[in-house]
Amino acid sequence: MTQNKNSKLMSDINPVKVAVVGTGSVGSTTAYTLLLSGMVAEIVLIDINKDKADGESMDLNHAAPITTDCRVYVGDYSDCNNAAIVIITGGANQKPGQTRMDLAAKNVKIMQDIVPNIVKNAPDTILLLATNPVDVLTSISYKLSGFPASRVIGSGTLLDSARLRYNLSKYYKISSESIGAFIIGEHGDSELPVWSLASIAGMRLREYCEKSNQEFDQDALQKIFEKTRSAAYDIIKRKGYTAYGIAAGLVHIVETILKDEGSLLTVSTVGDYFGVKQVALSVPMKVNRTGAHHVVNLSLDDEEIEEIKKSGQNIKSVCSSLGY
Ligand code: 2OP
Repeated sequence: MTQNKNSKLMSDINPVKVAVVGTGSVGSTTAYTLLLSGMVAEIVLIDINKDKADGESMDLNHAAPITTDCRVYVGDYSDCNNAAIVIITGGANQKPGQTRMDLAAKNVKIMQDIVPNIVKNAPDTILLLATNPVDVLTSISYKLSGFPASRVIGSGTLLDSARLRYNLSKYYKISSESIGAFIIGEHGDSELPVWSLASIAGMRLREYCEKSNQEFDQDALQKIFEKTRSAAYDIIKRKGYTAYGIAAGLVHIVETILKDEGSLLTVSTVGDYFGVKQVALSVPMKVNRTGAHHVVNLSLDDEEIEEIKKSGQNIKSVCSSLGY
């Protein structure tokens, strides 16, 4: 077969590869969600527990012929080479009664091992972290990696925002797709809802309630937020871990990056936010092929500004207690 001068042989084209570090419940569910999405050609699984990774890889590969054509294999850090994105899910996860911040000391050690290994083998990749406390570990991984902040992304409050929209959708009996509401700050106990900007059909919630003949009930909104904030605790108490929500969130971020969408997602990257300098926390960020970018300062009310400052300082103080 003659090759047109401008065309590439199939073997010259790198297949889209994503690596998943950690094959616990979050890592394996993320790999499965990614496989079903059909967006990638290769998924590399990396875990110190080789047997667990092997088992997940076999199981996932058996799904491939009946779903999408995707090659899943177990590798080491050298297999991160040319990966478009490396998703980090490894580390300890919350036990009932533990906060995410309680995991900081243990999981920072794991990042100190994982991140330099990825950077050495995939200097151009995008790091996407889900390991908790995700904002602390995103701040520290940014330093460990030497990458630009835009290429070290924490899943942040993307999931909390989804949970908030779900809870609001139940309350207002309207699809979550039609609700514009989000959570910012830490993915954890100091997070906050941005009620001042929450909207339905382009109207602030108070106006929406007036126009649709419903009571605007601030106590109910506070309860909805509390339920959103405690969602992980409530799930972990019952099933021991959370996985589906975060896996869907991670794959949504992967899709936004691979398709160069430029969507605004509440993910976490290091930056200066409301006077708190060089910390990773979530506000809506523009996500595209080059990573996550802080392109807009939210018009928050005074109370929200105080709360997000506190949230940022909280993340920063945990980072400094760990020597970062
Ligand atoms: C979650 O929110 C535990 O951070 C995890 O589901």
